[in-house]
Amino acid sequence: MTAAVSTGFDFAAYLEASRLRVEGALDASLGPERPESLREAMRYSLLAGGKRLRPILCLAACELAGGDAALAMPTAVALEMIHTMSLIHDDLPAMDNDDLRRGRPTNHKVYGEANAILAGDALLTRAFEMVALRSPGVPAERLLAVVAELSLASGAPGLVGGQVVDLECEGRQVDLATLEYIHLHKTGALLRACVLSGALIAGASEALLAALTTYARGIGLAFQIIDDILDVTASSDVLGKTAGKDLTADKTTYPKLLGLEESRRRADELVAEAKDALAPWCAGAGAQRAAPLLALADYITSRDR
Ligand code: FPP
Ligand code: MG
Repeated sequence: MTAAVSTGFDFAAYLEASRLRVEGALDASLGPERPESLREAMRYSLLAGGKRLRPILCLAACELAGGDAALAMPTAVALEMIHTMSLIHDDLPAMDNDDLRRGRPTNHKVYGEANAILAGDALLTRAFEMVALRSPGVPAERLLAVVAELSLASGAPGLVGGQVVDLECEGRQVDLATLEYIHLHKTGALLRACVLSGALIAGASEALLAALTTYARGIGLAFQIIDDILDVTASSDVLGKTAGKDLTADKTTYPKLLGLEESRRRADELVAEAKDALAPWCAGAGAQRAAPLLALADYITSRDR
C-alpha cells in the first residue's frame, strides 16, 4: 500500500483540480504576443490539452517544500511552454515528421514549418520571461536558481543533447546505457527541472533538493519506459499521437532491448526508488504534503496514454 493511499489522499480529485488550475494559468499566460498569427500558433499547441504532468510536478514539489503553490504557477506555466516547444520541434519533418499530436494535426501541419519553428522559439523564450518578469513575490535569487535549472534542462545538457543523440541513433542498434542517456536528457532533464524549480521557489533545503533529484531520475526513466511500452500496446486514438512510431522509425526502445515484461518490471522498480527517496519527508505531518508526489510517481506507471 502506498503512503498516498494511507493518508486518504484523493489523487483523481487532486489531479483534476490541479489540471484545471494549470489550464487557467496557461490560458491567461499568452497576452501581448504580436503578430496575431504567431499568438494563434503558440496558443494552438500550448492549449491543446494534455496531462499537464510537468506543471503539476512543479506545484507539488513546491508544496512538499512548504511553499505556496501559487507562487510557483508562473514557473509551472514556463515548464509547460518548454515542453510544448520541444514537441512542436520534435514533430517537424526534419525530426520525427509527425502529423498527429494530442489528438490534433501537428503545429506545422496547420501553420506551416516556418511558423511552427517560430512558435516554438517564442514559447521557449517566453518561458524565461514567465520566470524572470512574471513571478511576483518570489525572491530574485530563487528565480535566478530557477532560470539556471530551466537553462540546463532545455539546452545541450538536457533536451537538445538528448534529442541529438536520439536522432543520431535512429536505425542503429543502441545499448541500454545509450538508451538511458537519451531518456535522461530528452525527458528526464525537464522532469528534474519541474521538481527542482518548484522546490527552489519554496526555498527547499539541499537535502530535499538531492532527494528530488533522485525522485526525478526514477520517474523520468519510468515515464519513458512506459512511453515505449504504450507506443507498442496502445492505439493512436487513445494516445492522441501516432502509435507504433518507434518501430517505423527503427528506434531502440526498452521493449525492444528488454522485452515488455522486463520493461514493466524495470519501470515499477524505478518508481519504487523514486518514492523511497522521499521517505524522510513522508513522516508525520509531511505525509499530506508528500502524497501528491508519491501518487504522481505511481500514476506514471499506471497511465494508459
Ligand atoms: C519527444 O520524444 C521529444 C522530446 C521529449 C524532446 C524533443 C527535444 C527537442 C526537439 C529539442 C528542442 C529543444 C530546444 C530548446 C530548441 P519522442 O519523439 O520519443 O516522443 P513522441 O512520441 O511524443 O513524439
Ligand atoms: Mg516524436
